[in-house]
Amino acid sequence: IDAALGGGPLAGRHVLVTSGPTHEPIDPVRYIANRSSGAQGTAIAAALRDLGARVTFVTGTAEVPPPQGVTVVRVETAAQMLAAVQAALPAEAAVMAAAVADWRVANAAGQKMKKDGTGQPPALEFAENPDILATVSQGAQRPRLVVGFAAETTDVLAHATAKRARKGCDWIVANDVSPATGIMGGSENAVTLISAEGAESWPRMAKDAVARRLAARIAEALA
Ligand code: CTP
Ligand code: CA
Repeated sequence: IDAALGGGPLAGRHVLVTSGPTHEPIDPVRYIANRSSGAQGTAIAAALRDLGARVTFVTGTAEVPPPQGVTVVRVETAAQMLAAVQAALPAEAAVMAAAVADWRVANAAGQKMKKDGTGQPPALEFAENPDILATVSQGAQRPRLVVGFAAETTDVLAHATAKRARKGCDWIVANDVSPATGIMGGSENAVTLISAEGAESWPRMAKDAVARRLAARIAEALA
């Protein structure tokens, strides 16, 4: 309601959110992707909107539909996501929740690949994708607040803390996505917010609740 009236603590602020998987083509009919549903990023975009922000939502096609009342930019590949993010800047804050494919297929075929009858499968070659979070964090149009995610299955805190330093973002939202946690594809999340001040573990809660809490923290930081 605040947003509809043009109010809210983030009124007049532009916030960029990335979400969902990317899809990296193998040929015109096949791709490599990952299990991200886009649920957490979608909830964050909605929570920022609810606080009055103008939200640009850059999304790989995900299971969860994008929220209403935000500017949706649909992308397929990591390269397209980077271009869309750069086109959406400047922004006061950026939240990079996307599960960006680390590699693309370097020898993707322009035509559908066909079995050649020898029983020999094709060999795929991979190239590393650009790091969107690091590019934005270290770029000329760096938002005042840059928030990254770290999905880990071992040594969550150590890996996430190292990631924050390496990429140059302000905060990392770290979570354990081991299959046993049920977080990947589930409706709940248990995260640790890592900032210059240290690490703060939040209790396990609905992804919507994580999103609202994070959006409130972003509003505080931009106030
Ligand atoms: N990220 C990105 N561009 C990439 C890879 C990751 O912007 N090419 C962002 C993600 O959106 C997330 C953060 O970086 O906010 C961390 O992603 P993650 O996959 O955990 O880290 P990586 O640096 O890819 O390291 P690794 O997967 O090897 O652990
Ligand atoms: Ca990765």
